[in-house]
Amino acid sequence: MKAFIRFAAIAALLGGSVQGGAQGLPGGPDPVEGHRLALSLCTPCHVVATDQELPPILDHPAPPFRTIAKRPDTTEASLKHFLLTTHSTMQPSFSMPNPGLADYQVNALVAYLMTLKNRP
Ligand code: HEC
Repeated sequence: MKAFIRFAAIAALLGGSVQGGAQGLPGGPDPVEGHRLALSLCTPCHVVATDQELPPILDHPAPPFRTIAKRPDTTEASLKHFLLTTHSTMQPSFSMPNPGLADYQVNALVAYLMTLKNRP
C-alpha cells in the first residue's frame, strides 16, 4: 500500500504543477514529455527505463514498460483504455491503481510507450 500512497502524492503534485504548461501544445502528444512523466510517476512499480534513478519498490514489480510495449496486442488504443479505466473505483488490490491522469498526460505516456515497441 505504501507504493500507492506515494503514487497518489506524486500524482497530486504533478497534476497541480504541470497541468497549465503542457496543455494544448502544438504538434500532438510528445513522447519526450511522456518519458518524463513516466520517470516521475510510474517508476515506483515499473521498470520504465533501465537507467531510472531507483528500482521499483514492489515485492513483485509490475511488468517493465518494454515488455508491455512489445506485446503484439498492445496498441495506442489498448494503452489509453487501460490507463483511463484501470480500477477507476478504488478497491484495495494488488493490481495497478488508477493513476488519475489528465488526457494530455495519457496521450504523452502512450506516445512514449509506443516508441518502445520498435526499440531493440
Ligand atoms: C502502485 C504501483 C503502480 C504504479 C505507480 C503504476 N503501475 Fe502500471 N501496473 C501496476 C501493476 C501491478 C500492473 C500489472 C497488473 C495490472 O494489470 O493491474 C500494471 C500494469 C500496467 C500496464 C499493463 C496493462 C496491461 O494491459 O497488461 C500498463 C500499460 C501500465 N501499468 C502503465 C502504467 C503507467 C503509464 C504508469 C505511470 C503513470 C503506471 N503504470 C504506474 C502497478 C503500477
